[in-house]
Amino acid sequence: MSEATVSFTTHGDIALATIEHPPVNALAHGVRVGLKAALERTAADPNLAALIIRGAGKNFSAGADVREFGRPFEPPQLGEVIELTEALSKPVIAALHGSALGGGLELALACHFRVALAGTRLGLPEVKLGIIPGGGGTQRLPRLIGARAALSVIAEGKDLEAAEAQRLGLVDLCVPADLETAALEFARRVVREGAPLRRTGDIVPVLDEPQVFGEFTKSVGRRQRGFLAPLEAVKAVRMAFELPFAQGLGRELEMCMALLNGAQSRAQRHAFAAEREIARIPGLKADLPAREIRAAAVVGAGVMGRGIALCFASAGIPVQLLARTAAAAEEARGQIAKLCAAQVARGSLAAAEAERRLGLISGTGAVSELRRADLIVEAISEHRGEKEALFAEVAVHCRAGAILASNTSFLDLTALGRASGRAADFAGLHFFNPAHAMRLLEVVRTPATAPQVTVTLLQLARRLGKIPVLVGAAEGFVANRMLARRSREALFMLEEGALPEQVDAALTNFGFPLGPFAVADLGGLDVVLATRRARFASLTPRERAADLLEQLNALGRLGQKSAAGWYRYDAERRALPDPLVHELIARHSAARGIRRRAISEEEIQERCLCAMINEGARLLGEGVVPRPQEIDVIWLHGFGFPAYRGGPMFYADELGLPRVLAALERYRDTVGAEYFTPAPLLQKLAAEGRGFYDP
Ligand code: COA
Repeated sequence: MSEATVSFTTHGDIALATIEHPPVNALAHGVRVGLKAALERTAADPNLAALIIRGAGKNFSAGADVREFGRPFEPPQLGEVIELTEALSKPVIAALHGSALGGGLELALACHFRVALAGTRLGLPEVKLGIIPGGGGTQRLPRLIGARAALSVIAEGKDLEAAEAQRLGLVDLCVPADLETAALEFARRVVREGAPLRRTGDIVPVLDEPQVFGEFTKSVGRRQRGFLAPLEAVKAVRMAFELPFAQGLGRELEMCMALLNGAQSRAQRHAFAAEREIARIPGLKADLPAREIRAAAVVGAGVMGRGIALCFASAGIPVQLLARTAAAAEEARGQIAKLCAAQVARGSLAAAEAERRLGLISGTGAVSELRRADLIVEAISEHRGEKEALFAEVAVHCRAGAILASNTSFLDLTALGRASGRAADFAGLHFFNPAHAMRLLEVVRTPATAPQVTVTLLQLARRLGKIPVLVGAAEGFVANRMLARRSREALFMLEEGALPEQVDAALTNFGFPLGPFAVADLGGLDVVLATRRARFASLTPRERAADLLEQLNALGRLGQKSAAGWYRYDAERRALPDPLVHELIARHSAARGIRRRAISEEEIQERCLCAMINEGARLLGEGVVPRPQEIDVIWLHGFGFPAYRGGPMFYADELGLPRVLAALERYRDTVGAEYFTPAPLLQKLAAEGRGFYDP
């Protein structure tokens, strides 16, 4: 970011303070100094009658400068600037555009009036960083828009569009264009009419629905289980109705600072920074011109293929869906139509938009018809031979410069690229199921992938609304390779004495939304079994013998779709522990000569997490990803790793690598060296007293 300043200009008797701190006008020290000076100058100059505060560039302000978190804020503090704003004896008008978030909105709340350009996003997203607003947001917003609307913004982190904000009483005037003129006119009118200053802090808040706090405590407690900040946010909003304003402000700041200094916020701020950091790829020129992707094709009309096709259509990119026959492709289109219809019925998609998306998807049964596509994504079943044959055929028909991508989860991409005969134009695009909904996308480059192809795919992924993470072409890439380690331990622990519901509970208590067995039931045990069989040759003897999946499949237990898998399911699709599965597991342990023992929740969590972390360290050591950030983002967005723990590698650092190493050594001795030999990088860092993030 560049220098942080506030420019000061005058239009007759109206002063304009413009926040200039690209790219998002974060309220860094220089901005706070500039704002304070602008307020003082307006107060002192008898020729000035009002002050407009606005932002230069694309936004009003994205709030406090997150890079200043974790060290003492240099004065003036944001709270001081905000209080000076509200206390000014001349009208202060906020002119809002782009984003007015966090401290930016808190500053606007302390202005006496607010004018906004249509489309402006107003919000207090602090909970997403593990904190609550600390500049009066929790005390002023409810005074303006009431408890319920304020709770949605503050405790749930939902932002408001300007027109909605005007309807709620947060914005006084919403204009379609020319914000500066509108703000100047507004200021002149306020001065001319001698309108009384509207200090938000002076409003006596009225509580219409006292039960609303209980409702939100319950709903955020359920939907954001484990997160501290949303619950604190509800308490803070409640204070606006129960404490005198000044006392509420003081208490809010204390609560904010306590959260800011806590482990959850540290982890959530790490996640925010990591997501942005991974967009900068070492050694890859960001300004390399990307290829244009005007039309795409997806080969394979199964669940993944259909989901991927929908991703393109949703982003407005025409896409051909190639199945074995034209009729099969048409049927797949019909299934996509059903998926969209369900979204329309739920109210999450407009009917016209669903039509538009479907109109962009065409079905075909002939590879020769793919010659218009700029990108062809293969999503057929995981057979190396079939994929190689397909790519060889596709390469004959597709146009020169078209990018070929495979959605394989674990096959050797370098070999597939070679088989296509177009290795430089070849890469992996590893989508997660359901592809149209999951935001994570592993973009996999082989040593032969042209840098321009990599840049194109990363850009395309963002166009699809995904979070792309660039990884190398190692077996299982990052996500599945680490997941396999966790799944292995989960299964081993079943053999040793645990039950599926116990393992799942340990991991949901850690903060995952679902445990591994519930996830398997959701995806289908036939699908999981197919992956196991495809990888069978690479399994250890113990893994091969741990054939509980085969046994469940043989019983027709395919997971949720057959109302029975690791659990049985009632009519409401609730998972219920199943004595039949318990018996099957007990028999399996006995047959394998394993004496069952009680396994603690702590062991389940530690074994699963340490197995993942160790594999993460190997991936880093092998250079499959350049930084631990990639791994953390993959786990946060691919498998619901709790954001308040920052991702597996951040979590390992928080635990301390010597502790992780000691656990690995313990399991190496009890479970086996082939599973728990500590990765060289982890050993080295632990010995040096460093962490993954402490190079
Ligand atoms: N403080 C410091 N830097 C910030 C920032 C903040 N509050 N908000 C965003 N940035 C930086 C980002 O780190 C990024 O930097 P980089 O280019 O060096 O990676 C840059 O601004 C652009 O942000 P990005 O999120 O990539 O752009 P966007 O256009 O997609 O989104 C926002 C813009 C403002 C909507 C989004 O950045 C955002 O939500 N920011 C956080 C707002 C917030 O939580 N404020 C409360 C702080 S307590």
